[in-house]
Amino acid sequence: MNTPQKFTALQVMQDAAVIPVIVLSDVAHAVPMARALVAGGIRMLEVTLRTPQALACIEAIARDVPEAVVGAGTVRSRADALAAANAGAQFAVSPGYTSAVGQACRDAGLALLPGVATGSEILMAQEDGYSQLKFFPAMQAGGPAMLKAWSGPFFDVQFCPTGGVTLQNAPEFLAVPNVVCVGGSWLVPSDALAQGDWARITQLARDTQALKK
Ligand code: 3PG
Repeated sequence: MNTPQKFTALQVMQDAAVIPVIVLSDVAHAVPMARALVAGGIRMLEVTLRTPQALACIEAIARDVPEAVVGAGTVRSRADALAAANAGAQFAVSPGYTSAVGQACRDAGLALLPGVATGSEILMAQEDGYSQLKFFPAMQAGGPAMLKAWSGPFFDVQFCPTGGVTLQNAPEFLAVPNVVCVGGSWLVPSDALAQGDWARITQLARDTQALKK
């Protein structure tokens, strides 16, 4: 099996200033949340596989919000990748990298942003053909200074730093030339979901899009 991908990882990264990292525990939130982000200019949406409802949420967004491109985050195994593709995900983001996860994503036609935090992990991902990577956890693992240091030896790699990135520090990351976009959970606060405050999510998306490179 080798399903063609609809999007490349670079296309996923280039679409907006941020890939929102989304945690949903109520399927009823999925569609209005996705529409709120799209209204704010953000359509590449990473729904993390961290809740029992995550796959159903991916399915609902894929079915009901055609303007969005839904992906799966927290993809840690072949089973996760296949389940995500089955639910309608178009891309995958992983917190680390193994060749098995890479192979599963290629089999399933999912663009993959593999997570890395060290030079050896970058080499392993590159050996399998991945040069667009998630730097995770970005703040804890060295922040913008780490990305600048990597730009020498890994001059052909592009990053989406995620983990501890905020609306306030995002510009510092986006100013580093090997950063294409950032990732973060601040666009979809759990209290906004609980209150159905979709306008707040749209505003957060707009504020973030204003930072686009
Ligand atoms: C992730 O899951 O990729 C990160 O935990 C998101 O990190 P943040 O909550 O610090 O944005």
